[in-house]
Amino acid sequence: MSFDVRVLSGEDDLLAASATFRTALIGLPPLPPGTDVTEFFEPGRTLGAFDGGRLVGTADSYASTLTVPGGARAPHAAVTHVGVLPTHTRRGVVTALMRRQLADAAARGEVVATLRASEAVIYERFGYGIASSSARREVSRRQAVPRPGVPRGGPVRLADPAASWKLLAQIYESATGRAGMIGRPASWWRQQEQRQAAAPGPAYVAVHGRDGREDGYVRYHPTGTEEWFTSRDRVIVVDDFVAATPEAYAGLVRYLLGLDLVDRIVLPSTAPDDPLPLLLTDDRAVRTVCVRDETWLRLVDVPAALSLRAYRGPGRVALAVTDDLLPGNTGTYLISEDGAARTEGPADLTVDVATLGALYLGGSRWWQHARAGRVAVHRDGALETAEALFHTDALPFSGTGF
Ligand SMILES: CC(C)(COP(=O)(O)OP(=O)(O)OC[C@H]1O[C@@H](n2cnc3c(N)ncnc32)[C@H](O)[C@@H]1OP(=O)(O)O)[C@@H](O)C(=O)NCCC(=O)NCCS
Repeated sequence: MSFDVRVLSGEDDLLAASATFRTALIGLPPLPPGTDVTEFFEPGRTLGAFDGGRLVGTADSYASTLTVPGGARAPHAAVTHVGVLPTHTRRGVVTALMRRQLADAAARGEVVATLRASEAVIYERFGYGIASSSARREVSRRQAVPRPGVPRGGPVRLADPAASWKLLAQIYESATGRAGMIGRPASWWRQQEQRQAAAPGPAYVAVHGRDGREDGYVRYHPTGTEEWFTSRDRVIVVDDFVAATPEAYAGLVRYLLGLDLVDRIVLPSTAPDDPLPLLLTDDRAVRTVCVRDETWLRLVDVPAALSLRAYRGPGRVALAVTDDLLPGNTGTYLISEDGAARTEGPADLTVDVATLGALYLGGSRWWQHARAGRVAVHRDGALETAEALFHTDALPFSGTGF
């Protein structure tokens, strides 16, 4: 079945897109009263699929950047608001939307697209792979004692949560060096602001660093406030933890661990290799509750993406990539620590674009995908060479939901 897919622009269409997305997702919390959802859309980036004039599916994105290994920032489409009405699923609606969205991203010069998936079976067919994971952790605060050698960190001050958004955005911008981090669009910050303003309970912001030289912050809120006075399990949830320096990291961890009254600190989204347990005399004070897929990454422009990231020698590998949706990406690329370039020579390894997306930021290992039958090996030793070239010290991590 074919659907008419077009860019949505007027207020009515954008309101309809928001309603379609929310209906498709079924269980999203209600929007705060007075929310102007049209502020959350960027002009020209919201797509609608129509069935006989009726909007039945939508897909959207923000203009952003994605930090890649080596620190470069790739032009990036942060894909969001993907949904198809339950009355119209399995008829090719999301396929039509994804095709158009990828074509638009390529035409804009966006090198990568990423998204957060509600289900893990949807996006691989469109060339997305799981490029980073996120760990939910809980800290038993009274058990969590920093080791003697943990740096003290600098000064931490409380800031007015309603008046500090601009400062937080500045600090965040200075802290995006890790592969997987994204540039947060203005509309992302606006949504956080609206959400916080509408939240019934208190919220706090602690900022690390001297005035004018702030280099980290933590946003958090308590839960179960009705019983707070008598509770034996007082919980805070960390909504955002950003540290541009090791001092800020240590200072903010110490600040959280020093919160009298609090029994449990919930960190819904941390890097899987976050060193927090290693900072403590008893590393069981930190429990990893679960590890989930975080960044689904699609290489929109494979040659540009391969050229943007850094590699570590020694050796070189000729990598054949297949891409059915964006066939211009299909080809063989010679990769070494000097960079990446197309080659007409024979391939050492073959991957599809979704598998390369999963490997691109260094978040998984080549041998793991080879075991899954997703890497074809044509030369002995090529897998190990690719492993070394793509290796990164830290696991990729975004820390931004959108
Ligand atoms: C996924 C979703 C959009 C449905 O799309 P749809 O229009 O039914 O998908 P299509 O008809 O284009 O299906 C394409 C293929 O994907 C498969 N597919 C799509 N969604 C699937 C799902 N949830 N589970 C299993 N298979 C699925 C279809 O079976 C079809 O397979 P085929 O090509 O082998 O026949 C809908 O379930 C939804 O709105 N989910 C939430 C989206 C989301 O994750 N949003 C947040 C990210 S920003």
